[in-house]
Amino acid sequence: MNSTLAPAPDLDYAVFVRRVLKRTGIDLRSYKRKQMERRLRSLALRYGASTLAEFYAKLDADPSVLEEFRKRVTINVSELLRNPDKFDELGKKIIPRLPSRAPLKVWSAGCSYGAEAYSVAILACESSRSGDRTRILATDVDEEMLARGREGLFSESDMKNVSPARRRRFFTPENGCYRIRPETKQMISFQHHDLLRDKFPSDLHLILCRNVVIYFTEEAKQRLFREFFESLQPGGVLFIGSTERILDANEIGFEHLSPFFYLKPLADGRE
Ligand SMILES: C[S@@+](CC[C@H](N)C(=O)[O-])C[C@H]1O[C@@H](n2cnc3c(N)ncnc32)[C@H](O)[C@@H]1O
Repeated sequence: MNSTLAPAPDLDYAVFVRRVLKRTGIDLRSYKRKQMERRLRSLALRYGASTLAEFYAKLDADPSVLEEFRKRVTINVSELLRNPDKFDELGKKIIPRLPSRAPLKVWSAGCSYGAEAYSVAILACESSRSGDRTRILATDVDEEMLARGREGLFSESDMKNVSPARRRRFFTPENGCYRIRPETKQMISFQHHDLLRDKFPSDLHLILCRNVVIYFTEEAKQRLFREFFESLQPGGVLFIGSTERILDANEIGFEHLSPFFYLKPLADGRE
């Protein structure tokens, strides 16, 4: 293969994508191509590769290059209570409207190192339901991030939206960081899950999928939003990122509750 990264001929990118899928299971076809090529290009140059072929040879041969590649494909930026006003709305308006008799079933999809899942755990504990009646599934494709999530240790910068009262109640200080308390940690189960390949969980009351689909093609996004709809119980809510919108929400069956919150209505038309 004689391709160069710039300009990147279509076929060569497609061949690279196919090889990556076969070698790693990562399906780049569903990620926005321009963005992805830009990221691949700067990463390849960092490893002294000026063509996709050279870059593929390097990541095939060297596990550390492959690991770095995985990280670049999956951007892991997160923090606790990211977009605090939206989490405020989640705690005050959305969680109280979810069914209170059955245990609350929540999914944080694309959870990175767990900040989002722990944020919901905090809000659930503060609501009238007790922590042990809430089950949070936190999933991601990045094993390293899942391991960090299970650890439950957060830096000061992760904590910038966490009030002193919440710090005292939910965390223990540890060498300049903050460790989530065991009773909150046990509400969450971290599991590997690829949104583009794996079967979705079902019967959920609340799904958070924030700042994940921004990297996906329109087609992949539409497929995901439909699958999220199917995964929710009637009366359940999907919470998406603050730069995101579901263009065909009504068509899917969602009711737009407020920016970034989408309801799957009850079968009888009640909210
Ligand atoms: C920017 S982080 C968002 C973290 C968190 N949801 C938030 O908003 O703070 C994006 C996460 O999506 C994950 N991700 C990317 N592609 C994915 C896929 N196909 N399936 C599951 N997770 C994926 C990445 O590994 C990364 O941890």
